[in-house]
Amino acid sequence: QERTFIMVKPDGVQRRLVGKIIQRFEDRGFKLVALKFVAPDQGLLTQHYADLKERPFFPSLLKYVSSGPVAAMVWEGKDAVKTGRVMLGETNPLASKPGTIRGDFAIDVGRNVIHGSDSVESANREIGLWFQPQELVNWNTNDHGWVYE
Ligand code: GTP
Ligand code: MG
Repeated sequence: QERTFIMVKPDGVQRRLVGKIIQRFEDRGFKLVALKFVAPDQGLLTQHYADLKERPFFPSLLKYVSSGPVAAMVWEGKDAVKTGRVMLGETNPLASKPGTIRGDFAIDVGRNVIHGSDSVESANREIGLWFQPQELVNWNTNDHGWVYE
């Protein structure tokens, strides 16, 4: 099954949204595979957002995501990457529908509360960047047959 990397950004942590965000992924039926609370260093964040290095907002993005601790996690399930992005909403929170995380909790693009991998390739890259292989837990959910046909 597919895995995606989800990170509650410093604004989400400061606004005490970590629990609510985890709740949404649990409620949907996704399986938590890894979870850590960390103050990421600039090197890790630069690698994480390497594809945005040339963008004008890159310095403010780095300042934002390094401004405090984040909650990094890996969720597993059917179409986890695409479904995770739908649950997050649009990059610009004001364009996000109510019912999405950004649509319910955010206003500015530079304070959009949460990150989610944008493709399976990005997910694999980001999971490898943020987690050691032994930090990814293989386990069976006992409701699997009640979530999946
Ligand atoms: P992530 O899940 O965080 O990767 O967001 P995304 O995939 O929806 O957007 P993208 O990867 O293009 O940009 C990464 C992050 O940079 C966004 O979530 C925003 O926090 C920030 N960002 C993107 N575009 C802009 C912009 O035009 N202005 C500002 N200030 N920040 C931006
Ligand atoms: Mg992105």
